[in-house]
Amino acid sequence: MKFISKAILISLAIMLLLSRTSYSLFQYSKVHTKRATFVSESFEMGSGSIAAKTFFNIEFPKGHVGVKSFDSELVDEEGNPIPSFETYLHHWFAIKYIQNITMSDDPKLRHPDDFSFKRNEGMCNGNILPHYWGFGVESRGTTSNIPEPFAIEQGNPTNVPEGYEEKWLLNIMAIDTRGAEDKKGCTECRCDLMNLPKDFYNVTVDVHNQPLTTDYKGGLFCCQDNLQCKQIDGFQGPKRKISLRYTISWVDWNKHQVPVKVYILDSTDRITSNGSEIIHDCQAEYTIPANTNSSGDSPHVQKANIPMNKGGYLIYATAHMHSGVVNATLYAENGQTLCTSTPMYGSGNEAGNEKDYLIGMSICYPQPGSIKINDGEILTLESRYVNEFRTGAMGHFYIYLAENLPQ
Ligand SMILES: *[C@@H]1O[C@H](CO)[C@@H](O)[C@H](O)[C@H]1NC(C)=O
Ligand SMILES: *[C@@H]1O[C@H](CO)[C@@H](O)[C@H](O)[C@H]1NC(C)=O
Ligand SMILES: *[C@@H]1O[C@H](CO)[C@@H](O)[C@H](O)[C@H]1NC(C)=O
Ligand SMILES: *[C@@H]1O[C@H](CO)[C@@H](O)[C@H](O)[C@H]1NC(C)=O
Ligand SMILES: *[C@@H]1O[C@H](CO)[C@@H](O)[C@H](O)[C@H]1NC(C)=O
Repeated sequence: MKFISKAILISLAIMLLLSRTSYSLFQYSKVHTKRATFVSESFEMGSGSIAAKTFFNIEFPKGHVGVKSFDSELVDEEGNPIPSFETYLHHWFAIKYIQNITMSDDPKLRHPDDFSFKRNEGMCNGNILPHYWGFGVESRGTTSNIPEPFAIEQGNPTNVPEGYEEKWLLNIMAIDTRGAEDKKGCTECRCDLMNLPKDFYNVTVDVHNQPLTTDYKGGLFCCQDNLQCKQIDGFQGPKRKISLRYTISWVDWNKHQVPVKVYILDSTDRITSNGSEIIHDCQAEYTIPANTNSSGDSPHVQKANIPMNKGGYLIYATAHMHSGVVNATLYAENGQTLCTSTPMYGSGNEAGNEKDYLIGMSICYPQPGSIKINDGEILTLESRYVNEFRTGAMGHFYIYLAENLPQ
């Protein structure tokens, strides 16, 4: 009797202890982590239409915060998730900018420096890949969540010049493939499937501000707002209003947060040097030629060797790629694999699990402190796709680096 009651007492004590721990963890996340879901402005899409939208001044947590995650998906007017085989989310990017608080509403009265992008730490030239968050069709199955106590610091008033405020914009590209003659071609923005204006190749410039040549067969520049991808004869789908629904979780910035820096590396980056400085030349997208090698079913590999000015401890890594991705790997200078991000393909019929569509990319979460990238280290990025004709392919690798570890 006595023995049993002692056992019960001990297990009671253990239960109390356990429940206490989980209670305090629960309270910790309750008190510190906030979460909100926002819906972007809506836009109308009919069957086969292309939407390429930029919405300025979107809702974003106010004040000096540490963002823990930012995840998105396409929804209809009732808030129902839209499956990728109906409307394909090519990409969404959340981009930071600062704006003159008293900027004139009249564009003619604005000054050139009333507005400027504040890019991430990634080294692409100019305004290429400037975003902090953003994926594509893989969004629903790819989390941007960062482990405690790391966070992406935003809204630090000391980083915003007097007279300016920090704001965010969303850049969204969606492709309605209902009734498409060639769904895959439409999702890859194949130029010959779009009702391009007659003078398209004369007036359109590429990422380097050079006129597009007729060698450009597909990609971002052929998916322009309001264009139409080729439909099956006679198909007429209903129009509907679409929005990007996004959920952000964050903490108020305090001394317990450890900042991570956001880098987006591009497997098309062509590195050169002018003697004193490294020059990056990111293409953002690339074309994979038709594979004429009958014995070759090995993947197409796009590779870049990218020097990091500043290193840090690797906290999070993943890749943004398109359907047809085999995987993407980031290597250290000594050849060690830092992260391989692998795709998940769907097998069902519902949003988030669409058969044969890319529905997620895996994330690497190395034990904080276990992987250190040195200042000046040259990383190698390889993005691999199934080897067949493909336009607008992307190989973007997102890494979050902490310059310091928690004390
Ligand atoms: C902001 O815009 C106003 C109105 O155009 C202008 O007078 C002011 O100089 C601008 N401020 C800065 C910091 O450029
Ligand atoms: C536009 O491009 C086409 C094909 O490259 C060329 O034949 C034509 O002369 C160009 N038109 C103008 C106005 O430059
Ligand atoms: C290299 O490029 C940088 C940045 O554009 C420039 O400031 C520097 O003067 C260039 N150096 C040489 C040797 O051309
Ligand atoms: C053809 O594919 C094989 C097997 O993947 C590869 O070893 C070979 O180098 C390829 N040849 C060419 C010309 O690409
Ligand atoms: C990535 O793909 C390559 C090429 O198919 C393969 O050899 C490698 O094992 C893959 N890596 C992982 C971690 O899946």
